[in-house]
Amino acid sequence: MTMIKFQHIMSNEIGKRAFMSRPPEPPVSALLNDPIQSIFIGITKLFRVPFTWSYLNLTNPHISVVGISGSGKSYFVKTFLLRASYVWNSNAVIIDWAGEYKSWVNQSGGTVISLAKGDYMNIMDLSGMRPLDRTKQIITSLEILTDITEYPEQRRLTEEAIEQSYLNAGFSTSDIPPPGKDAPTLKDTIALLQEHLQEGTYQYPAELENTIYRLRQFAREGEDYFARKSTLDIGKLASSGLVDIDLSGLADDKFRAMAALFILQTLKEKMRSEGAMESKGLKTIVVLDEAWKVASDGKSDAVTIVREGRKYQFALLVASQNPTDINEAIFSNVGTTFILRVKFEKFMDYLQGSLNFSNYIKSEISEFGVGQAAVVMAFQTTLKFPETFILERVKGEEPLHIYTLDFSDVLVQSEITSTVVQREYQFEREELKNLLIEYNIKDSEINAIIAYMDEKERTVKILDFVTMMRQHGAEVSHIIELLRRIGLSDVLITRIVSGSGEQ
Ligand SMILES: Nc1ncnc2c1ncn2[C@@H]1O[C@H](COP(=O)(O)OP(=O)(O)OP(=O)(O)O)[C@@H](O)[C@H]1O
Ligand SMILES: [Mg+2]
Repeated sequence: MTMIKFQHIMSNEIGKRAFMSRPPEPPVSALLNDPIQSIFIGITKLFRVPFTWSYLNLTNPHISVVGISGSGKSYFVKTFLLRASYVWNSNAVIIDWAGEYKSWVNQSGGTVISLAKGDYMNIMDLSGMRPLDRTKQIITSLEILTDITEYPEQRRLTEEAIEQSYLNAGFSTSDIPPPGKDAPTLKDTIALLQEHLQEGTYQYPAELENTIYRLRQFAREGEDYFARKSTLDIGKLASSGLVDIDLSGLADDKFRAMAALFILQTLKEKMRSEGAMESKGLKTIVVLDEAWKVASDGKSDAVTIVREGRKYQFALLVASQNPTDINEAIFSNVGTTFILRVKFEKFMDYLQGSLNFSNYIKSEISEFGVGQAAVVMAFQTTLKFPETFILERVKGEEPLHIYTLDFSDVLVQSEITSTVVQREYQFEREELKNLLIEYNIKDSEINAIIAYMDEKERTVKILDFVTMMRQHGAEVSHIIELLRRIGLSDVLITRIVSGSGEQ
């Protein structure tokens, strides 16, 4: 048994002990905010304080999240957006590079816009902007995505042709456009340049040809996602609740970046023109997850949103596996950084160098599991206290995942129309998993069954389900037990067992 011993010690010696003089966590008053004006994220590791995030005591509301694949970045983003919508009724626009938020947004009752899969965006749409300003924005996007900066003459030709297309469509280039009037498209601009080339009067035809070639990349048949009449009102995105813009259907990263830049430009204009709200809280959260080029180029409007967002209650939430992909002007100016698990030494050194945390925090980060995070905050106070701390785990909430077994394939007509025969059974994901575990199905097999059901949008016919179970090692006696448990009659069970599995 260990005895506790009392020791005589001078207070200056106690003072030298780092844990007494400077605990590596901000004071409770900085972490625990008014619960109806803040977002609960998790419990701090050291003093177990519930950390509720608010930007009111921070330099700004912007957030960056870094961590390796699977560390929990998207999980954090979802948790944050959901709670922000409860607390402040915040809108969110997710620029979804890989389409990974789609099913979550659908389940949460938000809107999914799948570009190139039925939805199009005309990058010449004005959303209330003057054609001159929109023209400048298109040129900026071309500067970020193509080599146009190296060819001033081609840049000039492009700019003039875009402006001319607006004039030809009946717009005045320096006036706010009348509502409801259709904007021209890049196809009109290309046609103008082609006419110019065919006239044969222009001194440098090669410059014209290259100008046309560059624009045509964004207007080619089958890849003309940005050169058709828009199927959505981009101007309304910032105030439409939870919106996911799924870019995964676009043919390559250049198109994804074009879409993302255009959306950011439009959101920035809305942010400026609509001004601030009366109430506290965030009006709109713009999420950039793994957005190649868009977060790294200083000319991107992600930077403008970071500079000006606070006064308009607009927040940028940028997530990346690679912190060096986030532009300095964004990274060093966000009010909060969440560092999840980081593996590469060079990323860790970069993070430590720019965020200035201790070796203690560094060693903790290198041992993180999923969802564990170090948080670095830029407080708006002259008081000196640590601005970095460890969160035991991001405590999230995901919406329920409902899986449906559809019995219609084994019911006869009279049963289908009957009001007493059960036609389907629903499980929550964890419940289904637990049931499969009970019947001795291995983890990897369970994951395969769940993945198959996910592919079928979580609804499968009972025969397919039972066939799947048999293929993944379930015994017939267990399957029968499971079917009884969900309330099926012996007659139906016989039909199901004899109808499945023979493949
Ligand atoms: N805090 C958490 N609590 C519980 N589960 C979590 C937590 N964070 C992440 N997970 C789970 O871990 C898995 C990976 O998380 P997530 O998809 O958020 O990773 P990611 O960092 O976005 O990865 P990628 O870079 O590949 O997109 C998911 O199944 C998620 O539900
Ligand atoms: Mg992710």
